[in-house]
Amino acid sequence: MRSARTESFAGRITHLQPEGAYAVLAKAQQLEAQGRDIIHMEIGQPDFDTYPHITLAGIRAISNGQTRYNPPGGLPVLREALAKDAGARRGITVDAEQVVVAPGAKPLLVLPLMAVLEPGDEVLYPDPGFPTYEAAIRLVGANPVALPLVEETGYDLDLAAFDARVSDRTRLIILNSPGNPTGGILSRTTLEHIAAVACERDCWVLSDEIYMRLVYDEDVLSIAALSGMGNRTIIVDGFSKTYAMTGWRLGFGVMPTALADKMSLLLTHSVGCTATFTQLAGLAAVTGPQDDVETVRTEFRARRDLIVRGLNEIDGVHCPTPRGAFYAFPNVASFGRPVQELAAYLLDVAGVATLPGTSFGENGEGYLRLSYANSRANIEQAVERMGNALASLAPAG
Ligand SMILES: Cc1ncc(COP(=O)(O)O)c(C=O)c1O
Repeated sequence: MRSARTESFAGRITHLQPEGAYAVLAKAQQLEAQGRDIIHMEIGQPDFDTYPHITLAGIRAISNGQTRYNPPGGLPVLREALAKDAGARRGITVDAEQVVVAPGAKPLLVLPLMAVLEPGDEVLYPDPGFPTYEAAIRLVGANPVALPLVEETGYDLDLAAFDARVSDRTRLIILNSPGNPTGGILSRTTLEHIAAVACERDCWVLSDEIYMRLVYDEDVLSIAALSGMGNRTIIVDGFSKTYAMTGWRLGFGVMPTALADKMSLLLTHSVGCTATFTQLAGLAAVTGPQDDVETVRTEFRARRDLIVRGLNEIDGVHCPTPRGAFYAFPNVASFGRPVQELAAYLLDVAGVATLPGTSFGENGEGYLRLSYANSRANIEQAVERMGNALASLAPAG
């Protein structure tokens, strides 16, 4: 028997959409099942296996019986190690009580919002930006206010646009530097401006720094290191990108102790805790040698240069050099088609899976996102195939 009640869902989830990367991956896999050869440039995860000493630490932990519940906020030994490491990398002092461990960075993009926002509060977030920001803001009943990131400013924030969007209702500002999908890095001037506004208006800042170690020509400044920001910043970071651990599910946050305590309660009543053996693998990652991270960073830089050069050689495509993360964000507006259509065309005709910039917000129109966490051979082939397919769509003008 059909039931109307079990076929309708709560208003708070009606806005939820699949993440673009998963939707395109599913379509690409369908084509592969039909025998098509697809190059995957859509998924944002390192193509390397987790570094061996980390994997072995995880295996050892499982075989030693480290498979039981542990404290919701994370193993004390990992919180201690992260406090030292995350603090040193940002030039700040962090206590273990300020560190919260979670199954991935993602829960730390949602749960802190439950803790600090009331329905109707406004939250500024980057557009184009990681889609979970807007989803999480809406999920808790707050109002999302998009902060446009534009190519002309190298994807730094336009401070006049920022000021125009701040209001008495602004309660939280979400930042992501280096950014997905743009590869942009927020400048010191921008961060100082945002910090001054946050202090003056008594707002929280959630700074998603998951790509902090994947920068190619410079260091990244954390807004948490600026004066007055220690007691209003929620740093979100994780192991997925830095240590090629996407499937292990391990992330962490650094925040004022009072909020960290609330986070432990939210974790208690949602996930319970993060797998013990995953955390012990993470401990090996943080305390062990960092050579693999450096080797991979060097490889990503070479791939970045390869893809940017190749894309810029295609008529009608303009690709600025991303400064961090592992995404190219070429401007393809000259083809005069919605990027959703262009991405579908490239998948069908060229067998190259890319993401339309609009998967990251309205301001992504005119852009595609390509993850260069893929082999150099695949990058070269993807660019060649795209060049051939785009040649038959003459750019306007
Ligand atoms: C900007 C950003 N933040 C957070 C995440 C989520 O990371 P995790 O796998 O640790 O949940 C991602 C993953 O793609 C990301 O790009």
